[in-house]
Amino acid sequence: MRVAVLPGDGIGPEVAREAVRALRALAPEVELDERPFGAAAIRESGDPLPAATLAACRESDGVLKAPIGDPAFDGADVRPEQGMLGLRSALDVYANLRPARDGRIDLLIVRELIGGLYYGARGIREDGTVFDTLEYHPREVERVARRAFELARSRQRRLTSVDKANVLDTSRMWRRVVGEVAADYPDVEVGHMLVDNAAMQLASRPEQFDVLVMENMFGDILSDLAAAVTGGLGLAPSASLGDNGPGIFEPVHGSAPDIAGSGIANPAAMLRSAALLLEHALAMPEEARRLERAVEVAMRERPTPDLGGTATTTEFGDAVLEQLSR
Ligand code: NAD
Ligand code: IPM
Ligand code: MN
Repeated sequence: MRVAVLPGDGIGPEVAREAVRALRALAPEVELDERPFGAAAIRESGDPLPAATLAACRESDGVLKAPIGDPAFDGADVRPEQGMLGLRSALDVYANLRPARDGRIDLLIVRELIGGLYYGARGIREDGTVFDTLEYHPREVERVARRAFELARSRQRRLTSVDKANVLDTSRMWRRVVGEVAADYPDVEVGHMLVDNAAMQLASRPEQFDVLVMENMFGDILSDLAAAVTGGLGLAPSASLGDNGPGIFEPVHGSAPDIAGSGIANPAAMLRSAALLLEHALAMPEEARRLERAVEVAMRERPTPDLGGTATTTEFGDAVLEQLSR
């Protein structure tokens, strides 16, 4: 089995290193194929997603991706984030699972990942107006809705579909399609919530939710909020899955340029993403559980500054490895 590892930018290589150490300890037989991606790849070759990197990802059993992004490219024509959107769509990973757990909170955001506002028509009109468009085909809504119903069925059997149906035509279609798919899942309780209210409910009463499903950008925003109410971005992992082919396993957080290079980034989100990779891509659920438990212990014993502690990234990783060696 082979995993493509994309160390990315900023704190990316720092947290990826800890995930690689954990994977080597848990699954020594798995080959780790490290490839340039993001700003690092632009500097090397002018392309955030070089053809060789994409080929390695396609041929892998799963992609372990650290965050990308570099302020140096913010205004440039070629940007690291384009590589990321390109990779997601090339691998057809339409369902991005973003779990958030803490105490009584145990929710799962299912973010549609390769459609909506990020991928619709865009351009500039003659008068200088710039536009991005929110587009969905009912087929794209149906497949992500189906995935969310299946996941709800394996959990508390409650699904909240988040939209802006009081304003947007795409949302009214989204609501209709979710309602149609619901007929195949009579055992799942389904509700619809407007996205502004969903943000307020997530901030004030997050324990009410089980599975939430939503448009790409709504999911981008609400998953940072869900991370914030469950311990912060340093803890939040994700899995991006299609119907077949390799998935992408990556933290919700970005390259954190404000702390990159200081050795204090929390590697927990990256380690938890590696646990999702063990579970979903490598069929190693036992090892996934062991890694999750080791991260829990490290969070208590060697917390990084974002968790109120003083441990470095490496010290947190050492604590994880120590647990794994027991
Ligand atoms: P960010 O998630 O990088 O950082 C937001 C805040 O959270 C910062 O204060 C940062 O220090 C903190 N933080 C994030 N991860 C942390 C960790 N593991 N440990 C401790 N603190 C952590 O968001 P941003 O600053 O808005 O974006 C920076 C860059 O990252 C941008 O270029 C953006 O495009 C990119 N980005 C990439 C991804 C990705 O690759 N999946 C995701 C989000 C943002
Ligand atoms: C995320 C990130 C990305 C997104 C950016 C870097 C393109 O914010 O994975 O949440 O918006 O999807
Ligand atoms: Mn985001």
